[in-house]
Amino acid sequence: MNLSELLAPIADDMKAVDAVIRARLNSEVVLIRTIGDYIVGAGGKRMRPAMLLMVAKALGYQGSNHHLLAAVVEFIHTATLLHDDVVDESDLRRGRSTANAVFGNAASVLVGDYLYSRSFEMMVESDSMPAMTVLSGATTVIAEGEVLQLLNVHDPDVSLERYLQVVRYKTAKLFEAATQVGAIIAGATGEQEAAAAAYGRHIGTAFQLIDDVLDYSGDAEALGKNVGDDLREGKPTMPLIRVMEVGTPGQKQLIQNAIRTGEADFAAVAHAIRETRALEYTRDAAVAEAKLAREALAGFPISVHQESLLEFCSFAVNRDH
Ligand code: IPE
Ligand code: IPE
Ligand code: MG
Ligand code: MG
Repeated sequence: MNLSELLAPIADDMKAVDAVIRARLNSEVVLIRTIGDYIVGAGGKRMRPAMLLMVAKALGYQGSNHHLLAAVVEFIHTATLLHDDVVDESDLRRGRSTANAVFGNAASVLVGDYLYSRSFEMMVESDSMPAMTVLSGATTVIAEGEVLQLLNVHDPDVSLERYLQVVRYKTAKLFEAATQVGAIIAGATGEQEAAAAAYGRHIGTAFQLIDDVLDYSGDAEALGKNVGDDLREGKPTMPLIRVMEVGTPGQKQLIQNAIRTGEADFAAVAHAIRETRALEYTRDAAVAEAKLAREALAGFPISVHQESLLEFCSFAVNRDH
């Protein structure tokens, strides 16, 4: 199933979320509108708001807060992308030049801040203290994840545990918050809420592991972002950590130097990755996380939305974008 088929059962809701997003970008400050429209207009998969809606609907939600909160999650995500592309010095996102490449770092950082602030205003409007608690907590954890990652860059001694902590913080946490908020607004039981959170955490982890695979094996056109960025940035992601774990002393040295300097011979690194099957290893780890996500949904009532949530587990690992 492709992404648009997956989103079909909630197409009307996704349109409503899009309308909220557009309306809330409407600042009187023109540069905010310009950059907001620029990054939002480029698309994006909208997986996090979709999952919030699907969990809420799978658990019988009847209210009218879901579009607002789904838009909050997408705003937080968009803010992290604006900041992340500055930090990573990336120049391609969603098939376009990044906002930092077009408008500069300062404007990107400030509009990212605006989106965070906007999202906090919107959360307050939702008038759900439990939802606010989850979303504001997640925002803090994402920031911690990006700072932890900054500390890991150019450090070849980063362990699998430290890498996985970054993944959980910078990426999985927002998926977790989205699915947990979906359960909260639906008035779920504590058990269902915990299951929804576990689902989001595991699928978010799988999603980032595959992102790290695609950075070595993906197609820039399909991805809408450059491949090879992680190596250039000296980011110790799971594929490289795996080569250092099982590779020959020569391969280990090659990767250590690559991480330290960010100036590796991509072909040589790719060869070492192939020989050690490091991408297969990372993909297997993602598959295992997706399986845990699936299992977390075992207690959900069967519905079209519960099926979509299960289908997302396959999409997260089989995606090319
Ligand atoms: C990109 O997330 C950042 C990561 C967590 C890898 P997405 O791949 O969901 O980005 P968009 O919104 O679809 O562009
Ligand atoms: C994405 O990390 C996580 C956040 C945006 C918080 P990456 O740096 O791996 O994401 P891409 O590859 O730039 O989308
Ligand atoms: Mg990045
Ligand atoms: Mg990446």
